[in-house]
Amino acid sequence: MSSSGRSLIRRAAISVTAAGAVVATLATAAPAAQLSPAGPAPAPAAAAVLAAPDIPVANVKAHLSQLQSIATANSGNRAHGRPGYKASLDYIKAKLDAAGFTTTVQQFTSGGATGYNLIADWPGGDTDNVVFAGSHLDSVTAGPGINDNGSGSAGVLETALAVSRAGLKPTKHLRFGWWGAEELGMVGSRYYVNSLSTANRAKIDSYLNFDMIGSPNPGYFVYDDDTRLESVFKDFFATKGVPTEIETEGDGRSDHAPFKNVGVPVGGLFSGAETTKTAAQAQKWGGTSGQAFDRCYHRSCDTTANVNDTALDRNSDAIAYAIWTLSS
Ligand code: TRP
Ligand code: CA
Ligand code: ZN
Repeated sequence: MSSSGRSLIRRAAISVTAAGAVVATLATAAPAAQLSPAGPAPAPAAAAVLAAPDIPVANVKAHLSQLQSIATANSGNRAHGRPGYKASLDYIKAKLDAAGFTTTVQQFTSGGATGYNLIADWPGGDTDNVVFAGSHLDSVTAGPGINDNGSGSAGVLETALAVSRAGLKPTKHLRFGWWGAEELGMVGSRYYVNSLSTANRAKIDSYLNFDMIGSPNPGYFVYDDDTRLESVFKDFFATKGVPTEIETEGDGRSDHAPFKNVGVPVGGLFSGAETTKTAAQAQKWGGTSGQAFDRCYHRSCDTTANVNDTALDRNSDAIAYAIWTLSS
C-alpha cells in the first residue's frame, strides 16, 4: 500500500471516531443550551435511538435463508427431535462463538427425544442484573418455521452479533437464549427456568420474548405484562411513527410464560399469527383486512416467502433498541 493510501485510511478512521464522539455526546444528553440555544433538550428515547444500531435486515434475512436451507435438507422442518432442529442450533451457535459469546447448550428430554436450548452470554456487565432476550428455535413438523420462529431467532441472533460488532460494554449483563420444544408447550424454556435457583431467577432484570416478528400481513403488537418493558418498545415505535397495539392473542402462549410465572418481568413483540386482521388494523398498518396476519402459520408454506421485510426490519431494530436501552 502507498503511504498516501495509508494516510487516507488513517484520516477516515479519525473522522469515524469524531462522528462516534458526536453521537456519544448526544446520547448522554448534554444540556440543551450547549446543543442548540433555541431548541428543547433531546428526549431520552431519541438519544437512545441514536446510540442503538440500525440492524441490517439483509443480515436477518441471510439467517432466515440458512434456516430455510437447513429445513429443506432435513425433511422440510426444524422440529424438536428432528435433525433440522440440531442443525439450526449448530448454525446459531457457530455465529455466536465466532463473535466472542460464551455459549452453553442445555440438554433436556421430551417425548422420548432429546431437546436443546442454546444460551449465549456476552462477557462483562453486572451479572446480578441480567437483561435477557430469547426466542424459540423449533418449528412444527409441518413446515420450515421461517416466520414461526426463524424470524425471532434471526432477529435476536443479529442483535447479539451487533452487540459484538459494537464492542458494547453495558452496565448490566447480557444474555440471549434460543429455546427448544416451544411448540410442544414451552418445554425448553420451562426446563431452563426450572434449572435456575431462586437466587439466579432474581438476578434476571428482564426477559424479552420474540415469537414471530415478520408476519406477512403484519401487526405490531407489544406485550403489556410489565409497564417499564412495554414502554421501551412503545417509545421505539412512536419514534418511528408506527402505531402499536397491546398483544392480547398469546398471553401464556410462548416462552415468556415460564419466566413470568416465577416473577421475572417480561416483555416482547409479536406480528400476529392465525387471527384475522380487522379493517381498522389494515387502515393503520396496511396489508389485507379479513385475512390472517400469517396465513401460513404452522403450515408447510411458512417459508422465506412468508416474511414481510418491513416488519422484520422494524422489529429487529426494536430488539436492538431495547437491548441497548435496558442494559445501559
Ligand atoms: N406460540 C405460538 C407458536 O409458537 C405463536 C403465537 C400465537 C404467539 N399467538 C401468540 C406467540 C401470541 C406470542 C404471542 O406457535
Ligand atoms: Ca434495520
Ligand atoms: Zn412460535
